[in-house]
Amino acid sequence: MDEKLAITVGEVHDYWNTHTLGLQYVTDTRVKPGTPEFFAHIRPWMNPFKFPWIMERIDREAKLLKGKHLLEIGCGMGYDSLEFLKRGVRVTATDLTPHAVALTKRHFELERVQAEEIRTANALDLPFADHTFDAVWANGVLHATGDTLRAIQEAKRVLKPGGRAIISHFYRKPSWMYLLHHLGRENIEYKEEDPPVNEFYTEKQILSFFEGFKMVEAVQEHHRLLPVRRSGLKANLYTYVLRPVYNLLPESVAKKLAYKLSVTAIKL
Ligand SMILES: C[S@@+](CC[C@H](N)C(=O)[O-])C[C@H]1O[C@@H](n2cnc3c(N)ncnc32)[C@H](O)[C@@H]1O
Repeated sequence: MDEKLAITVGEVHDYWNTHTLGLQYVTDTRVKPGTPEFFAHIRPWMNPFKFPWIMERIDREAKLLKGKHLLEIGCGMGYDSLEFLKRGVRVTATDLTPHAVALTKRHFELERVQAEEIRTANALDLPFADHTFDAVWANGVLHATGDTLRAIQEAKRVLKPGGRAIISHFYRKPSWMYLLHHLGRENIEYKEEDPPVNEFYTEKQILSFFEGFKMVEAVQEHHRLLPVRRSGLKANLYTYVLRPVYNLLPESVAKKLAYKLSVTAIKL
């Protein structure tokens, strides 16, 4: 890894190690990290619970993967891996940051599920042999690593031939989020600072990253804008101008500006 990318990975690590996804939703100081109340409090905000199509994807994939070995890249607090474990999939859960790994371990302990392994791992240099896994799952991760293409190539390397890469989601451009990004604000849904990297690509670019895969589906997602907690000029513009106008667009038009593209592809 060259020096520039190593510096970026260091910044990404430092950000996510103190901003594990979900922490921003705990606004009640009585909720202590690592307790059952903590995980229950955050759960409704996590992707499979907030966006029904993610849970449907887990359901669908888990039926195909029962008894098989799935690697999760960038597991955060392990909510997605937990759903796969509950459905009989063998899971290795990984994240760049020790804080996410510690919370995932605690989460699985409380839920009494057993992963194959829970460990730190860098998506750009996965510590696994070629052709190890039947599936790779990454949810909101690869575009935030500093080198999206390399992350896909690493996922391909560790997949067995015929293995499934299930990537929810890449950031699209053009999209409403790309506009916000240029206005200087991505974390519009909550008060935290933005992560150091989020790469946006055209759909064509994203699909071109999947060389050596057979495409199963590429789905445009998140074409309705959510309410925000933030205040100030940009948040007000978002709340009172962009959101109502965008949300009024017919679905076929809104989808063209959706900010997420999720891809499922099979390694050839
Ligand atoms: C937006 S969060 C998503 C977390 C989780 N997938 C979820 O949906 O709850 C992004 C996650 O990617 C992880 N991440 C960022 N760069 C990574 C890398 N190079 N290797 C592994 N994980 C990485 C972060 O530590 C963070 O937990």
